[in-house]
Amino acid sequence: MNARKGHLILLLTLILVVACNADDDGGLKKDFYKKSCPQAEKLVRDITWSKAQTDPTLGAKLLRVHYHDCFVQGCDGSILLDPVGTNQSEKNAVPNLTLAGFDVIDDIKTQVEQACPNTVSCADVLSLAARDAVSFPFKKPMWDVLTGRRDGSVSLASNVAGNLPSPFADFSTLAQIFSKKGLNVNDLVVLSGAHTIGVAHCGTFSRRLYNFTGKGDADPSLDAAYAGLLRSQCPNPANPATTVEMDPQSSLSFDSHYFDTVMKNKGLFQSDAALLTNQGAAKVVQQLQSPDAFFPKFAKSVKKMGAIEVLTGTAGEIRRQCRVVNQS
Ligand code: HEM
Ligand SMILES: *[C@@H]1O[C@H](CO)[C@@H](O)[C@H](O)[C@H]1NC(C)=O
Ligand SMILES: *[C@@H]1O[C@H](CO)[C@@H](O)[C@H](O)[C@H]1NC(C)=O
Ligand SMILES: *[C@@H]1O[C@H](CO)[C@@H](O)[C@H](O)[C@H]1NC(C)=O
Repeated sequence: MNARKGHLILLLTLILVVACNADDDGGLKKDFYKKSCPQAEKLVRDITWSKAQTDPTLGAKLLRVHYHDCFVQGCDGSILLDPVGTNQSEKNAVPNLTLAGFDVIDDIKTQVEQACPNTVSCADVLSLAARDAVSFPFKKPMWDVLTGRRDGSVSLASNVAGNLPSPFADFSTLAQIFSKKGLNVNDLVVLSGAHTIGVAHCGTFSRRLYNFTGKGDADPSLDAAYAGLLRSQCPNPANPATTVEMDPQSSLSFDSHYFDTVMKNKGLFQSDAALLTNQGAAKVVQQLQSPDAFFPKFAKSVKKMGAIEVLTGTAGEIRRQCRVVNQS
């Protein structure tokens, strides 16, 4: 082979590699429904905003459902499927506690189907509605959502363990699970900032409050005064229905306070505190303590999360109802 030919092949290979790498959004597009259902995105937003007006916790609910959908078998709407017969679906698995907002997704999907039958996937409805519910107080979209996802037909409770980190996870476990989803340490820290909204049940952190090391003590990595406050909210044994705000006094407000609380050793879960146990991660926590720093980074990482193992093109289906796969 002469040198010129060799260069040409090298160049073509390079172009191919660059072209493939540019496509890290899994084949999703901005405004995928522009031609097929031009009103889709506005319809989802209008319905979501009217629901968010009466339920200020909707943003936290839907953002968590979107995260659970994406981490278990990709953002394919499988979290929305109900169990069939004796087959337990993802929403039956242990971490589903308080997963909520499914009724809102149903309402949106019903109206979208009326406007554009068989066109807009449940996975896209969820991804858009999560963004819109969080964005409601700001009256503008807080991040871009690419669309074109299609719906999967498999949802198994047994797929959840190992794909969703537990709140007791240490740093290396968290980093490992995120890396399997194509998310790096920066994404892990940034996305943990979602805990700036929402609540948690006592059982997800109360082991940190009582006899943590077997000496009748609390987790030494948890601020002692804050541990005391949490013990008063979650007595031992706690009522399993009791919840506390993850970002005290600010759990309805999507802001950067989460990173302040983590810095002060007041991160609620062991998995939140674990972010300070790695030098690189701790540095990111420190850098995200303002909305100006956090919001653009969150926009980037949540977009990456929304592209995990998506089905596009002719894969999967457009489910007519989000709770059941299409019959026939
Ligand atoms: C880093 C690993 C993560 C762990 C271990 C974790 C764990 C948890 C746990 C245990 C709860 C409380 C559930 C309850 O008791 O009701 C929770 C709530 C929540 N999580 Fe995470 N989470 C993680 C990452 C994420 C990510 C990446 C997002 C979204 C981008 C997210 C969004 C939320 C939201 C919004 C809530 C509040 C839900 C509500 O108030 O209804 N989490 N998380
Ligand atoms: C339950 O799951 C099994 C395999 O995962 C499948 O073969 C079967 O058809 C499912 N049953 C129902 C009622 O969907
Ligand atoms: C979560 O799982 C429990 C236990 O399997 C089940 O009783 C509950 O209905 C599930 N929650 C949702 C929202 O599906
Ligand atoms: C605390 O843990 C230690 C070691 O596991 C155990 O011996 C002790 O009885 C526990 N104390 C309480 C009050 O549960």
